[in-house]
Amino acid sequence: MLKVSDVHVHFGKLHILQGVSLEVKEGESVALLGRNGVGKTTTLRAIMGLAPRGRGEVQFDGCDLGRLEAHQVPRQGIGYVPQGRGIFPNLTVYENLCIGLPGKTDAEREAYVFERFPRLKERLKQAGGTLSGGEQQMLAIARCLMMKPRLIILDEPTEGIAPKLVSDIRREIHRINQTGVSILLVEQNVETAFKLCQRVFIMEKGAVVHSGTSLELKSQPELVHRYLGLSL
Ligand SMILES: Nc1ncnc2c1ncn2[C@@H]1O[C@H](COP(=O)(O)OP(=O)(O)OP(=O)(O)O)[C@@H](O)[C@H]1O
Ligand SMILES: [Mg+2]
Repeated sequence: MLKVSDVHVHFGKLHILQGVSLEVKEGESVALLGRNGVGKTTTLRAIMGLAPRGRGEVQFDGCDLGRLEAHQVPRQGIGYVPQGRGIFPNLTVYENLCIGLPGKTDAEREAYVFERFPRLKERLKQAGGTLSGGEQQMLAIARCLMMKPRLIILDEPTEGIAPKLVSDIRREIHRINQTGVSILLVEQNVETAFKLCQRVFIMEKGAVVHSGTSLELKSQPELVHRYLGLSL
């Protein structure tokens, strides 16, 4: 479904992505792991056409995303929830939900989204900026869902969020995947990645250094320690 092949990104003289390759198959949930600063966010931004791409290819269902402008990428069916959420604080919750839509929303889609996030339904007229951190994260995910994506890309969706809402958000990510939407998830918590994702890619210094199933990685704690500095 999504195939990233040997993607390079340079910022000035810095060669930040040095040939990243990864794949997300139809219906799959995939985690992208790695220490701080290895290039996870830059990889997601390169997929979305938001980072200056050098060599390499990004294909989504046979479409070459490298040929598209950044604003055309979500229309192919990819939702992106950036690190730090990116909602509009002065717009209401409802306005935030509708902002990416080409036309009017449909009632069925609204119902699907509110079923996932009832907390948002109770707060439609509230300004986005007055939501709690966890609720803002839910709003960012919900806004993606309004566009009926086939793949959702999430960058550390539970970073800095109260534990109670963390488990709600994780559960909803799992359920969204079960409704057939593919997931690419950047995650600091390796246990969460194992729970939510069938497959895992690990990055180091701008490249993918390990890929395999979550089950395989679980049985290789020495890899987790080497690349993530964590003890399982
Ligand atoms: N616009 C930019 N200009 C220059 N350097 C950048 C730019 N964006 C990112 N970088 C650098 O690229 C490297 C990778 O950053 P990136 O945000 O992709 O890391 P990350 O793996 O997402 O880290 P974290 O886990 O902390 O979110 C960092 O050293 C960062 O400083
Ligand atoms: Mg990041």
